Amino acid sequence: MACLNENLVTVGIETSCDETSIAIVRGKSEVLTSQVASQVDLHTKYGGVVPEVACREHLATIGPLFDTALKSAGISADEIDLVAVTRGPGLIGALLVGLSFAKAFAMAKNLPLVGVNHLVGHICAVYAENKNVEFPAIALLVSGGHTELFEVHDHIAMKHIGGTVDDAVGEAFDKVARMLGLGYPGGPQIEKEAEKGTPDFYVPVAMKNSGTLDFSFSGPKTAMRNIIEKEKDPALADLCASFQTAAIEALYIKTKLAIKQGNYRSIIVAGGVACNGALREKMYELGGELGMPVYIPSVKYCSDNAAMIAIAGALEYTKSEDKSAYDNYLDLDAVARWIP
Ligand code: KG4
Ligand code: ZN
Repeated sequence: MACLNENLVTVGIETSCDETSIAIVRGKSEVLTSQVASQVDLHTKYGGVVPEVACREHLATIGPLFDTALKSAGISADEIDLVAVTRGPGLIGALLVGLSFAKAFAMAKNLPLVGVNHLVGHICAVYAENKNVEFPAIALLVSGGHTELFEVHDHIAMKHIGGTVDDAVGEAFDKVARMLGLGYPGGPQIEKEAEKGTPDFYVPVAMKNSGTLDFSFSGPKTAMRNIIEKEKDPALADLCASFQTAAIEALYIKTKLAIKQGNYRSIIVAGGVACNGALREKMYELGGELGMPVYIPSVKYCSDNAAMIAIAGALEYTKSEDKSAYDNYLDLDAVARWIP
């Protein structure tokens, strides 16, 4: 039985996409180490993540990375009390590598195991650096696979209130970058170019006036294709600035609408796209406008990492009244799609 005080030691395991990550967290959110092995260089030449390549790389990396994490945290495997692993959403094969590793370790050491939702994990990244987030919070989760709005009631208790009807915003950044001949992942490349340009091309803010909390990024993506085909020699920096401005405007408008429709005390922004400096600035601006605190994890906790998974697992386990539920994990399956 794991200790339930502030000394609970949780190992987090994340392999849902193209980052292998192992983290060790003490208590609910004190990060002792967060090791991330990125596969970006392997996938860049294909212009996106190749699932088979990702699985093989996770397999080769996970064992040594686990040892590195223990060393870096200065603890032994016997000091771990709880295992938290990403169960989904993500690439099934990639998830299975982490899940199998987690089950084997939990079984060998007779430890409880929590299967964590990756999206909940992204939101929990905020708690690594902020211990006193005011609830209820509105959370905007922006990643390569998701663009979602959640009402967060108490750390991990959340309700889905809106999301994209087609592409995720990160996916749109990646696809537009590909159209422009920029590498994968596209978000950071578009941001870098956008800093040098002005948003002179018209890119629609899709569903701007829908009155709902839905997003759409497929229209803006098509608009970009049309501009690229029609314009004679458009400046790359201006194209990037135009797309980025429209994408951020959509995120800003819908988050503001959600706040207007609800009763929130703070704003959380999380996920890989939250690395974007212009988005961060705009969301801090929204907080200033509405007089609300805004919490955005530092860049290392926005992109995929296992610290967020360990925090989510520790919070769920600590809160749970039936701890024995975490002893029966052998049948726990990986799930490709899963919105909490
Ligand atoms: O959360 P994440 O690391 O992985 C998923 O769970 O999907 O997010 C990755 C996504 C990619 O689409 C990537 O292009 C985007 O985050 N991204 C950015 C930036 N950095 C990463 N998008 C816009 N601007 C950035 N600076
Ligand atoms: Zn992610």
